[in-house]
Amino acid sequence: MYRTHTSGELRISHVGQEVSLSGWVQHRRDFGGMTFIDLRDRYGITQLSFNEELNADLNEKARKLGREFVIQVKGEVIERSNKNENIPTGDIEIKVNELNILNASKVPPFTIEEETDGGEELRLKYRYLDLRRKPVQEKIVLRHLLNKTVRNYLDAQGFIDVETPYLIKSTPEGARDFVVPSRLNDGEFYALPQSPQTFKQLLMVSGLDKYYQIVKCFRDEDFRADRQPEFTQIDCEMSFVERKDVLNTFEGLIRKVFMEVKGIDLGEIPVLSYDEAMRRFGSDKPDMRFGMEFNDISDVAQGKGFGVFDSAESVIAINVSGGNSFTRKELDGFTDYVKRPQIGAKGLIYCRINEDGTFKSSVDKFFNQDDLKQWATQSHAQPGDILFVLSGDTAAVRKQMNELRLHLGNLLGLRKRDEFRGVWVVDFPLLEQDEESGRWHAMHHPFTSPVLSDRELMKTDPGAVKANAYDLAINGMEVGGGSIRIHDRELQQEMFDLLGFTAEEAQAQFGFLMNAFEYGAPPHGGIAFGLDRLAAILAGTESIRDVIAFPKNNMGRDLMIDAPSPLNEEQKKELGL
Ligand code: AMO
Repeated sequence: MYRTHTSGELRISHVGQEVSLSGWVQHRRDFGGMTFIDLRDRYGITQLSFNEELNADLNEKARKLGREFVIQVKGEVIERSNKNENIPTGDIEIKVNELNILNASKVPPFTIEEETDGGEELRLKYRYLDLRRKPVQEKIVLRHLLNKTVRNYLDAQGFIDVETPYLIKSTPEGARDFVVPSRLNDGEFYALPQSPQTFKQLLMVSGLDKYYQIVKCFRDEDFRADRQPEFTQIDCEMSFVERKDVLNTFEGLIRKVFMEVKGIDLGEIPVLSYDEAMRRFGSDKPDMRFGMEFNDISDVAQGKGFGVFDSAESVIAINVSGGNSFTRKELDGFTDYVKRPQIGAKGLIYCRINEDGTFKSSVDKFFNQDDLKQWATQSHAQPGDILFVLSGDTAAVRKQMNELRLHLGNLLGLRKRDEFRGVWVVDFPLLEQDEESGRWHAMHHPFTSPVLSDRELMKTDPGAVKANAYDLAINGMEVGGGSIRIHDRELQQEMFDLLGFTAEEAQAQFGFLMNAFEYGAPPHGGIAFGLDRLAAILAGTESIRDVIAFPKNNMGRDLMIDAPSPLNEEQKKELGL
């Protein structure tokens, strides 16, 4: 028997018991006559003590233990003279009377403690060692709890877990496919699924009614902190539902998750239309933890002879409460921020609202106190605040102002890690137009139903058609998205036409789905959540890499197994490459 207890388990009430523990040597302190070892396992750390006077050989053996040796000890639980309040086992230690070295260890390439000296690349190369560290391991455990909660909830709601294939034909979800050559079908390729979208719809045609799967998806996209080439979705689909049914069911899921994993009641999740989200926050995934909403001041800011505003489509202001205390240097910093090429504003205009109710703006030449007062009133500003104003094409200004808002939110500590706010964004445009080619693309995917009252517009004004689609954003991150689907062959065909598919192309790529629609497809809809993103939010980390056991780096490489890697000539020949 390797162990009677774990290293996180023993307390003062165990004093006097003979126990055995197994684990890793985290740390050794050598005081000549006395040796102390911190023994670590997944559950915690327990101090072991060795005393030369009691057993010189044993103490000598302990003095030779290196970091990360795997050992088993037997001994008596005793009360510590020097208690450690920082760990749950800090009141006791083990007076060791037997030490077995189960395995030696090379000196690890970085320290395996809460704080480490290892850089990211090195830790990814030795990910199995990084995963020994408590903060890293905790995130993996949290992910497990998230998984479990999701399964329990969906099971209780009658959802059935169905596996769908990984070797499929490409699905147009908007990213590039990863492809797999087929040995038995020379010159042909499978694609790895970007999502199980078409399969889950087919399961609805089959009458499975409620489907879910915690499933790997593969997308050959460029790197971002919230993206991995392979990631996990909580993928769901339901029959005979309308949008509100889907939102209700999954609001329940998300609230349950926050309650079980964080002990937090997320509360009712507000619903914003896409148009409103863009107007108020300039983003389809607004961070609702703080205000600083957009105010359109075009009507009071234009027509006063300031050319920049007069030639703009929109003039938008945000009010920073208490922001009049910003120094000149800080204001210059914000200007530089919005002028960065990634953001692309030409400049930033400000208006201070002084304590005495007067105004001081960077464009006082064009605007008098009455004008500025109107800006302030329209933006709900109070004495002590500051307004920041940007102007230009509406879409561009909103994008720039969104960046500034989030930047200010970070800077002012308004985006708190332990605070969580969700928002449903609904009624997205069905289509977006590629500026260069003029071609229409599905904003969500081609299986998304238009809002049915807009169906006629598909022929006359496709850009104005709303989709019956919804996204969930939490703290400014898109964590899920879905839609009510098209379940009618004719409408699906019309959608493919709009997207520029010929009838033959549509048939070749999606014939199976359109054929299925001719055999009694029920109305259906669903959603998929990014499990990695949800886990990252719950764990309070920026990067989804932290919540994935074996993630890829920003070049899509697994540094530990060194993949991808070249194939040998024989393999290539066999695959017809
Ligand atoms: P969508 O493409 O919006 O919808 O994806 C659903 C959710 O998956 C997460 N996600 C990602 N997470 C990590 N890395 C990535 N590369 C990545 N890409 C997406 C996001 C996103 O909200 N089939 C539809 C769902 C449906 O309509 O039911 C789909 O895949 O959190």
